[in-house]
Amino acid sequence: MNPIKKMVLCVLLTLALIAALASCGGKGDTADPGSADVDTEGKILVAYFSAAENSGVDAVSSASVVTVDGEAKGVSQAVAEMIAEDTGADLFSIRTSTVYPANMGELIDYADKEQDDNARPELTSHIENLDDYATVFIGFPIWWYDMPQVMYSFFDEYDFSGKTIIPFTVHNGSRLSGTPAKIAELEPDATVISDGFTVSMQNAANAAEDVAEWLRGLGF
Ligand SMILES: Cc1cc2nc3c(=O)[nH]c(=O)nc-3n(C[C@H](O)[C@H](O)[C@H](O)COP(=O)(O)O)c2cc1C
Repeated sequence: MNPIKKMVLCVLLTLALIAALASCGGKGDTADPGSADVDTEGKILVAYFSAAENSGVDAVSSASVVTVDGEAKGVSQAVAEMIAEDTGADLFSIRTSTVYPANMGELIDYADKEQDDNARPELTSHIENLDDYATVFIGFPIWWYDMPQVMYSFFDEYDFSGKTIIPFTVHNGSRLSGTPAKIAELEPDATVISDGFTVSMQNAANAAEDVAEWLRGLGF
């Protein structure tokens, strides 16, 4: 990896850790709520990607883990479960045949190369009944200021025309990192809510109240 790029990311992650510890909660990037477009009545799906479920090891041994109510899990997974519990949504874990390194340094390098290659990791889990859902929450960690490449595979596979997509991210300083606009480009006939939820990995375990407040703001 380009050493300057790596240094910038390390500095960012360190500064973000300090900032995150100094603050709490995680609501963010809230310029345009757009909540009038949210259908809160129909069936809801929460789809998410978390490194911990795609590393070939248990969550504790993975590169990224948080403990909620005594259970270790991926950070995006934890937030996805909070949204699903609050809204009564179904949960869908995005899985890939790619086995991501369980070591953080190796994962950072691996994801950097994946992004440089504009890779499309193969999906091994598939939503069979997407037609059932009017509203789909879609969550992932920010990797290298963007979605993990597997999310590009995900948006290649599905057509969300006519549906409402509500993004959420976990991060270490980059917040939503412009990903709702990228999703809107990939899914031009979907309504993409710009008021996505975002929380730092340090605050994710205790984000349930912030998640609930955000959901009330969207009309749930
Ligand atoms: C490969 C990689 C790249 C990352 N890049 C960023 C980044 O650019 N900005 C940021 O804020 N956090 C970054 N992070 C931190 C992750 O967003 C954070 O660890 C997240 O909570 C992981 O979620 P997960 O447990 O669901 O995989 C990166 C983490 C990894 C592993």
